[in-house]
Parts: sequence; C-alpha cells; structure tokens
Amino acid sequence: MASAKSTAHPQDAPARDAQPQSAGLLGAVPFACAMFDDDGVLRGGNARFAEEFGELPEHSERDALLARLQGEAGAGERPREVRAPHSGRWYALHWGRAEHDGAPVDVLTAVDISERIETLDSHKTRQEKLLFTSRLMSVGEMAATLAHELNQPLAAIMNYLNGSLRLVEQAGGPVQVERALQAARTQAEHAAAVISRVREFVRAREPRRDAHELSKIAETVLELLRLEAERLQLRIDLGLPTNLAPVFADRVMVEQVLLNLVKNAIEAMREIPTARRELRIDARMNLDDQIEVRVSDRGAGLSPAEQDQLFSPFFTTKTDGLGIGLAICRSIIEYHEGRLFFEPREGGGSVFGFTLPRYEART
Ligand SMILES: Nc1ncnc2c1ncn2[C@@H]1O[C@H](COP(=O)(O)OP(=O)(O)O)[C@@H](O)[C@H]1O
Ligand SMILES: [Mg+2]
Repeated sequence: MASAKSTAHPQDAPARDAQPQSAGLLGAVPFACAMFDDDGVLRGGNARFAEEFGELPEHSERDALLARLQGEAGAGERPREVRAPHSGRWYALHWGRAEHDGAPVDVLTAVDISERIETLDSHKTRQEKLLFTSRLMSVGEMAATLAHELNQPLAAIMNYLNGSLRLVEQAGGPVQVERALQAARTQAEHAAAVISRVREFVRAREPRRDAHELSKIAETVLELLRLEAERLQLRIDLGLPTNLAPVFADRVMVEQVLLNLVKNAIEAMREIPTARRELRIDARMNLDDQIEVRVSDRGAGLSPAEQDQLFSPFFTTKTDGLGIGLAICRSIIEYHEGRLFFEPREGGGSVFGFTLPRYEART
C-alpha cells in the first residue's frame, strides 16, 4: 500500500529535536493529523485525530484504518475522499513523507469535508429534481392539464345529453334522435374514460433511486400482464440473468417503463397469427458498462415516418391509444441518465430498449 521509497535512515542517527518539534507541529494543525512508521504503525497523532478516529479500533494501524475507510469509499488504493463509518463524516485524505525520530514516517491529514459534500449532494438532488420536473412537465403536465381542462366541458356535455335524452323519451321520439343522443353519450363516456386513464398515468410521485434487480422488476410487470398474454396465447421468452448487476433506479418508474414497452409489444401482435406471437425480454451489461433491457416483438414493426414521431407526445396509430406511453417512458429513462431506443427486429417486428446505470457505478 504505502509506497515505501524510504530514504535510508541509520538506526543510530541522532534523534535531533524532531520528536518534540513534529509533535508540536501536529498539535498546531487544525485537522486530524497522524503519522505512521514504515511498518504502518501509528507513531503519534494530534488531539483532533484522537477525537475523530480514536474510536475506530483500526486507528492505530495504517492499512487497517485505510481499509476501514476505503470500505466506505469503494475501490481504489489510498482513497482521497472517504467516509468515516463510525461518525458518517466525510474526509479528504492527504499523505506526506516526513521524518520523525530519525525514521521516515507517512503523515496523514484528514480534512473534514462533510459540509462541502452535503452542499454538493443537496445541489445535485435539487438539480435532478429540476431536470425531472422540466422533462415531465413537457409531457406529463401537458397531459394532466389537458385532462383537467377537458373534464369540465365533458361533464357539461354529458349533462346536456342526459337532459335531452330525458326530454326525447318523455315526448316519445323521434327514435332517430334518441339513438343519436345515446351514441353521443357512449362516445362522451369513452372520452371521460380516456381522460381518467391519462390522469392515472401521470400522477406525480417523488422518485427514489436505489439498487434494484431487473429480473424482479420484470417479474412484477409480467405478473400484471399475464392474463392478457394468455388470452392472446403469446409465447414469452426471458433472457434475464439472475447474476446481473443491480440498476440504480426508481423501481416504480422502471416498472412503468417496462410495463409500457411490453404492453405495446403485446398490442403490436394482436393482429398477427397466433403461431408468430412471440415476446422476448432480455437484459445484459452493455459495452458502456450499463444495464441494457430489450423488449422484442413480432408485430408489424414501424415505417420510417412512424419511427420519426415515435417519442413525440400524443403520437399514436391506435384507435384506443393515448400516444403518451413512449414519451413518458423517455422522460423517465432520461431522468435516470439512460437512453430509450427503437430498432427493427431481425426476422420482423420491433425491439424497444433502454439503458440504466449500474448501482455500483453510482455509489
Ligand atoms: N412494439 C411496437 N410495435 C409497433 N409499433 C409500436 C410499438 N410500440 C409503439 N409503437 C407505435 O408507437 C405509437 C406510440 O406508442 P405509445 O406512446 O405507447 O402510445 P399508444 O400505445 O397509446 O399508442 C403507437 O401507437 C404505435 O404506433
Ligand atoms: Mg402504449
């Protein structure tokens, strides 16, 4: 660990006044400061060091102390910024070579940087939140506002229709008008149902990112769609290694993304012969060290013109579609610093996929 480029110091070298001087010096340093000999044994430290690290049983042994702090900081030799496990405080570590008592020593200073780290952290969360709101504003808020604005006139239309229907019924006809009014009411009810689905879909939630296994997320999603898949006699193949590194993500949001992609894949195969209805979900680590998830179907695929509009809000080719699924998926994945993509599937159909950072890469 310690680069032992020790300059030879004869054992019998005169002690000079190094000891009292450096002890005095250490005492004057306004940070935790300690020195270790070339065997890594603590030779002395100032009061701050005793105060801030003395509680750790490993404090008197350089490598053990480092390992303890390093364990909190992650990989890498001689970490520069570490977190003390017993106090939760952050330190910037600096090493220097000096001489003490005629022998070379490693001098450690540990500067408490907790405040700086906390400021950075809160700044980051604030930024993430901002980014999130601005992205989700574009689709989610728009959809929510629209739904809200449409609700009022729609309720009024329903009232007028019901009133008119009552009048026509009382007057005993004409029957064509009665039928037309009933048809209009059915359509208005359908519109109301669509609007309530939009509101359900964009309900705001605070994101909370943590370590999650993709196989578990996929399990939840497939459980929700099992009936639908069985009804269509879909074959589902999974390529989800259980030893895949966990992702750093908000579980509910990723579930929502996967649910949407799988739902789209299922819907894309409604019109094709049963024997060809095959859905695949794969996950793997890609070359950029991210987790990549792919949902593949055997549907009709997409024309180049459709591909261009795919992620635009309200683009849909379905009579019962809302066209906000993919747009919201993209907001969510971008919030996670990942990428949502489409590519044609070999042998026919589409592949929709996304990437997410690994948990270990983030902590
Ligand atoms: N797996 C898929 N295969 C073919 N087309 C798809 C697929 N997924 C999405 N699309 C196309 O993208 C459009 C937008 O999808 P989406 O945003 O989920 O809205 P919706 O499903 O409500 O139409 C769909 O209407 C469809 O034309
Ligand atoms: Mg959809």
